Amino acid sequence: MKEKILKALKENPDKFLSGEMLSKELGITRAAIWKHINSLKAEGYEIDSVSKKGYKLIDVPDLLTKDEILPRLNTKYIGKTYVYYSKIDSTNKKAKELATDGFEEGTIVISEEQSLGRGRLGRVWYSPKGKGIWVSIILKPDIPTMMAPRITLIGAAAVHSALEEFGIKSEIKWPNDIILNNKKVCGILTEMSGEMEKLNYIVMGIGINVNTEENELENELNKIATSLKIECKKEICRKQLLCSLLNHFEDFYDAFKEYGTLENVINICKKNSILIGKEVKIISYGKEVAAKVIDIEDDGELIVKYDDGTVGKVLSGEVSVRGLYGYV
Ligand code: BTN
Repeated sequence: MKEKILKALKENPDKFLSGEMLSKELGITRAAIWKHINSLKAEGYEIDSVSKKGYKLIDVPDLLTKDEILPRLNTKYIGKTYVYYSKIDSTNKKAKELATDGFEEGTIVISEEQSLGRGRLGRVWYSPKGKGIWVSIILKPDIPTMMAPRITLIGAAAVHSALEEFGIKSEIKWPNDIILNNKKVCGILTEMSGEMEKLNYIVMGIGINVNTEENELENELNKIATSLKIECKKEICRKQLLCSLLNHFEDFYDAFKEYGTLENVINICKKNSILIGKEVKIISYGKEVAAKVIDIEDDGELIVKYDDGTVGKVLSGEVSVRGLYGYV
């Protein structure tokens, strides 16, 4: 019902809609209308209420609620089941529970804030209220479990393409970071459940620091992390960015499911790679090896040349790659 009232207000941007008219149209009492209006105000919608005139919508908050996102999405299935929280511990954790409970492919779990956002390798992901996009997508592709990590690259290419629509030129640090001016603006955490031959589900968690302020990024984080607002010196509309991200994600993911290739995605990751040509340290299970990054293979693996001249492949999921003198 609240959604219907909001829709009516949005369709009449410059008009007062009377409580009586709304109550007749929607078949509920004026007191119920008033209650829903108050709940919209509590969510951040600015609504003018004037006695004998009614209600007029003045301003819409930059919230990632279903009402704000679904009308702007052009996807067939990504985001059609949309699970929204104003606060949760971790959207990835929730998405894994829902995937186990049978929620379908394409289900989105999103929260304005995470109290225990999770990063790769057991790290914490700082997720302050209303400042970023903290989203997890449930995927159930029919692929062998060992192919699952390469799906991370679809997320990376989708974030890169969405940022491009905003005129933001980001770089991709294989396989799961998006970089702006040598600092990390987005991280992707791909988690999965399955046996060797059968994948049950993948949860792809994407965290984008959108409007986080410089003083909000804790000292430690500040050295490697940044936000779109810090780098672009302006607020970015989270709603628009999320929709663009999900639209791109579905396009790339559909192509992968239909043709089994990541051609487009790999091209984007290669063209915008911050690692290709660089000397890096490959850190795996506590061991560090120096190498030069040569390329990204068609199947999404990183090709590196070690100091002794041998060429090898690095599988995502197993490693951290660091620049010799810093994060990238
Ligand atoms: C990393 O770079 O370490 C990955 C960070 C992933 C953060 C996102 S935010 C939404 C989703 N929920 C989580 O708990 N983590 C991911």
